[in-house]
Amino acid sequence: MSGKRKIWIDTDTGTDDAIAIIMAVQFSDVEVVGISTCCGNVPNEKVVQNALFIIDLLKAHVPVFKGADQPLKRDLVPADFIHGTDGLGDLGLDLKGRIPEEGRAHEKMAEVFSAQPGEIELVCLGPLTNLALMILSDPGIIDSLKRIYIMGGLVDLPGNITPMAEFNIWADPDAAGIVFDTTSNITMIGWDTTLKSGSFTLKEFQIIDRSGSDLSKLAMRLQQPRIRWMRENDEEILINLADPLTMSVVLDPDLITKTGYFEMSVNNNDDNEVTRGYIEVMECDDLSQVHFVHSVNRNGFLQLLTQCLTGSKSEFNIYSTDVEKEFLTEERCYITEIMNTETRGDISFARARIVPGVETALHALRGTHEFYYILSGQGVVMINSSTRQVRSGDLIEIVPGSPQKIKNTGTEDLCFLCICRPRFRQDNYEDLD
Ligand code: RIB
Ligand code: CA
Repeated sequence: MSGKRKIWIDTDTGTDDAIAIIMAVQFSDVEVVGISTCCGNVPNEKVVQNALFIIDLLKAHVPVFKGADQPLKRDLVPADFIHGTDGLGDLGLDLKGRIPEEGRAHEKMAEVFSAQPGEIELVCLGPLTNLALMILSDPGIIDSLKRIYIMGGLVDLPGNITPMAEFNIWADPDAAGIVFDTTSNITMIGWDTTLKSGSFTLKEFQIIDRSGSDLSKLAMRLQQPRIRWMRENDEEILINLADPLTMSVVLDPDLITKTGYFEMSVNNNDDNEVTRGYIEVMECDDLSQVHFVHSVNRNGFLQLLTQCLTGSKSEFNIYSTDVEKEFLTEERCYITEIMNTETRGDISFARARIVPGVETALHALRGTHEFYYILSGQGVVMINSSTRQVRSGDLIEIVPGSPQKIKNTGTEDLCFLCICRPRFRQDNYEDLD
């Protein structure tokens, strides 16, 4: 008994699903007990190979089960223009010859969920065909699930596949209709949530690749088809990470910044393509209804993604618990690049800034002591549960280990310099004029 949270991932493994799977497998506090594949971004036989490739790449022991090859009633309409013909960026990866486990996914899901009532959290990152098939086989099994997280739908229009609908719901609206008619034990992250909290410029997205790990490089390369498509269609180049954002909410619910509860019913009107996959939403204060996540801490999501892809946080890591989107642009980022002009001898510095009223965590991530010299402003540092007022000229020493909180209780930006080299000694500060 690992004592870890147990999650099952249902996926139409395209490029963003792949990153989400990597996050879950790399995150030490959860155990991925199974993966079920479904047609969606690409045909299911490719989805199976893609999911098996990612599990192989991570040298993980997670059983992968083949699910639905077709939506319940409709024809499959893949999204390979975004994910590539093979679903993983057409990078020439070795995506063939791997064998999934025996058995049909929805039957295995029913078996595993009912054998561990109240223990497993289901994370749906694709069309809901497998979950609907499980419900049709035995409606009561859905009650065995601890929670269902769905990347899909939206509250604020427009959608991505049509103005009225998001792809995962639109691809199999009949399956979605069965799911939402059966349960509201759902936390939903929508396309609108993704645009608000999980959408990055190329420059912002490149933050994850600062460490240059194999997984962060793969995450970058998987974006090639979508960047090519956006260029060809004169769209602004944005990396929309719907599935990784959803997984970040599963892994760290503290990242959620705004939610609401909604009664939801899916429009699966057979012949009206305009409203296909549209979800009627009615906000309420009934906590048993669908819990919709309007927004997520965008910087915190990027930090978690970086951590999962690099095995540790980026070299110099200051992040805030409440950063707005514009703060992430390089110009206003809390962390500017380490400034060579500040280099004195073999010591380099990074300048950081925290706006009033925001709390941040300081990490000595390189496993050695780090020193923060307060340049201007004043705030409160929480170190080992004791608080200390700091102001310009003060020095904070951050020891390796648990993050230490700093809150800017001042009325002006708290700016400080971090000495990035472990060799720096306190008595050298005199020459920091
Ligand atoms: O609309 C975004 C969703 O559709 C994501 O899950 C993406 O992978 C595609 O399946
Ligand atoms: Ca997906």
